Amino acid sequence: MTRRAAPPATAPIPQTAPPPAPPRPRTPKDRVLTSIDLAAFPPDFHWGTATSSYQIEGAVAEDGRAPSIWDTFSHTPGKIDNDDHGDRACDHYHRWREDVALMKQLGTNAYRFSLAWPRILPGGDGPPNAKGLDFYDRLTDRLLAEGITPSVTLYHWDLPQALQDRGGWPERDTAEHFGAYAALVAERLGDRVTQWTTLNEPLCSAWIGHLEGRMAPGLTDLTAAVRASYHLLLGHGLAARAIRAAVPTAQVGIVNNLSTVAPASDAPEDVAAARRMDGHSNRWWLDPVHGRGFPADMLDVYGVELPEKAGDSATIAAPLDHLGLNYYFPVTVADDPAGPAPYARQVRRHGVPRTGMDWEIDAGGIEQLLLRLTREYGARKLYVTENGSAYPDVVRPDGTVDDPERQAYLEEHLAACARAVRQGAPLAGYYAWSLLDNFEWAYGYDKRFGLVHVDYDTQVRTIKGSGHRYADIIREHGWQSRRVA
Ligand code: FCB
Repeated sequence: MTRRAAPPATAPIPQTAPPPAPPRPRTPKDRVLTSIDLAAFPPDFHWGTATSSYQIEGAVAEDGRAPSIWDTFSHTPGKIDNDDHGDRACDHYHRWREDVALMKQLGTNAYRFSLAWPRILPGGDGPPNAKGLDFYDRLTDRLLAEGITPSVTLYHWDLPQALQDRGGWPERDTAEHFGAYAALVAERLGDRVTQWTTLNEPLCSAWIGHLEGRMAPGLTDLTAAVRASYHLLLGHGLAARAIRAAVPTAQVGIVNNLSTVAPASDAPEDVAAARRMDGHSNRWWLDPVHGRGFPADMLDVYGVELPEKAGDSATIAAPLDHLGLNYYFPVTVADDPAGPAPYARQVRRHGVPRTGMDWEIDAGGIEQLLLRLTREYGARKLYVTENGSAYPDVVRPDGTVDDPERQAYLEEHLAACARAVRQGAPLAGYYAWSLLDNFEWAYGYDKRFGLVHVDYDTQVRTIKGSGHRYADIIREHGWQSRRVA
């Protein structure tokens, strides 16, 4: 038997002391933190973060990716604050390993990301780009190796420009191409990915992109917008069917950004305006996928004929496994007969807290919407697929980023989610928007939503105070769940 050498009487003094742990931002003493009823959440709850391809990837002309409508729009002078664009963004295309490591550090067990259609099918249809598919393949494998469930969104607004040149979403062909693209990626990733989302916030694609012109492709045309909305939902149905055909175990859903809508006064005109805004923002997107057709009152409001064909309603109402809710703010509206459809003007309420986006903060809204999806639409499984807040964060000289407002927003909204669960909402996960500060569409890089700060010059990532707090919450839930189990 070999004996180990006896340890030296005095241990050698290390030449360099280990670096001190970076100080963690503390919760300001003057804030009473909202307590979150974590025991309300099931043990297998998805604790996630969310991102989207154009907002973080960069590498827009690399490895065969072709332009999307967002490349075109962001390079059109005057469309984006500071004329920012996504050419480099968070350089995630090269730094994805580091970003997965950050997810791990936060303790998250799920990650919602989107695939860039023009990276996979540069022409929108036609031959796939192997390097594009490989990128998402590697990312998926790494996530799984780290115990993080990938949740894949097929469309987060970056339509291949080639398809826009052929008419884009106002044309039926785009929906058909979307179905074919869904089939392709489901074939490729479906052996490992079970969580699928077809569309992210079709409202933004249709209404903001084709009616208000503040997002790509930048149109202001009601007929184009209604046609786009129709083909987006048709594309959703075709994609849902294609995913299921390729992956029998797939869990398929759609993600909508919904708002609570209140009238600015009791006047019947304002009450009717609120009803129209609810139709425009919420019911138009929920009713058809639940087999209820497009809301008749809104068809009257728009006065645009739908490009319907036999069988479409059933396609659009393809059975879903879950609904995704993106929630940011409540809306108060007044009648606006001279304005654009839906003839309801958003009213600014005074004396209410707001984020750096100037968006009103009302955590009660997330609770109401989760309950509405449960009670009115019979949802069997819900995810909060996005929720978060922007503030102008800075890295302090000691290397920390203190963001008490974002931390409070996170806690208040999680507390509201827990209340919804206690009242019966089948909430299976929460994905914080966003993992990283990123390209915030028309607002460019000035609006920072990340739990992790990004220095866009150096690409250095720094976990913010809210990120540390999220990690604590996730850990605490894990302990509580183990005690329950
Ligand atoms: C949502 C988008 C997401 C992000 C957040 C702040 O509408 O889905 O990409 O921009 O808003």
